[in-house]
Amino acid sequence: MHKITITRPDDWHLHLRDGEALKAVLPDTAHRFARAIVMPNLRPPVTTIALAAEYRQRILDALPTATVRTEPVEGDDLSTLRQAQCERSGELNFEPLMTLYLTDNTSIKDVEEAKASGFVKAFKLYPAGATTNSDSGVTSLDKCAAALSAMEKLGMPLLVHAEVTDADVDVFDREKVFIDRHMKPLLVKYPALKVVFEHITTKDAAEFVASAPANVAATITPHHLLMNRNAMFTGGIRPHHYCLPILKREEHRVALVKVATSGSPKFFLGTDSAPHAKSAKESACGCAGMYSAHAGIELYAEVFETANALHKLEGFASFYGADFYGLPRNTDQITLVKEVWSVPAEIAFADEVLVPLRAGQTVAWKIV
Ligand code: NCD
Ligand code: ZN
Repeated sequence: MHKITITRPDDWHLHLRDGEALKAVLPDTAHRFARAIVMPNLRPPVTTIALAAEYRQRILDALPTATVRTEPVEGDDLSTLRQAQCERSGELNFEPLMTLYLTDNTSIKDVEEAKASGFVKAFKLYPAGATTNSDSGVTSLDKCAAALSAMEKLGMPLLVHAEVTDADVDVFDREKVFIDRHMKPLLVKYPALKVVFEHITTKDAAEFVASAPANVAATITPHHLLMNRNAMFTGGIRPHHYCLPILKREEHRVALVKVATSGSPKFFLGTDSAPHAKSAKESACGCAGMYSAHAGIELYAEVFETANALHKLEGFASFYGADFYGLPRNTDQITLVKEVWSVPAEIAFADEVLVPLRAGQTVAWKIV
């Protein structure tokens, strides 16, 4: 197959940052995806409806209005026409779906207001200290009991960065240990809570989610489907392949590909595209996060093609996430062609640059 047309996908886990950085990265996502679940780990974190409303407006204001093409030309397919139309009207038809950062102090009222707002779609649980900008995260799930009960009652999804933070737990085991210590007890206490196990990276997480009830789902990133932990050390240390949860052994990557391409509605697309300036990555203490929005659907096409499962891409990328969140599926389409293109070595990022995934290398699929 050299060409595939699918319903326009959504990204169910995305870091957009803020200010000039937001302006630099947003077009990559908005050109591919109709909607994205926007992570709240700004500094300070997005903990209230008011902060989420302001952040949402800044995202909408940052949407590209520049007209790339004004008139459709002969041979344009529907998605190109749609894009040209949006560009003509000065907007990219992209909807940010907002999340609130769960803290020890999140109240029942916060949850009720979030639900009533319509634009906040979930709460994000970062164990304190687990990853980039997580120092205001949850110190103990017991402190969130009231908020979690309210979420369960109102059908408000909890998105979980599922890693323990204990220094004495090996960094490669932190997801697996979280399942037994926190995920299982959480679901015993709140059996009807909608939970997205974010960016799963292990066979253990894949099996856990596959055998859990329908209110438990998972997102999977392109990098965890494409790379194992060797990618951090190919010929030397590779800071641009450092992210959290960290890349794992090959057997885990294989398990992730298996569930992603299985057609199970419990697994859906979440890039976890997490831009950091090159200087912050290439440092004595480099930040965690990979930037993949520039090829946010194309990289998944590579994975699904290699697994002989291109026909399963649409469900994973465009249907199951919307279904889980109770949102309508998108109605327009995108087309991908099998055509090699080169990823630039660097992309402008506010007054710095960032190094995208596959920098200086090629991607096998291209969005039309
Ligand atoms: C993310 C970031 O940079 O905000 N980093 C990452 O490695 N994925 C945070 C996160 O999702 O853990
Ligand atoms: Zn993330």
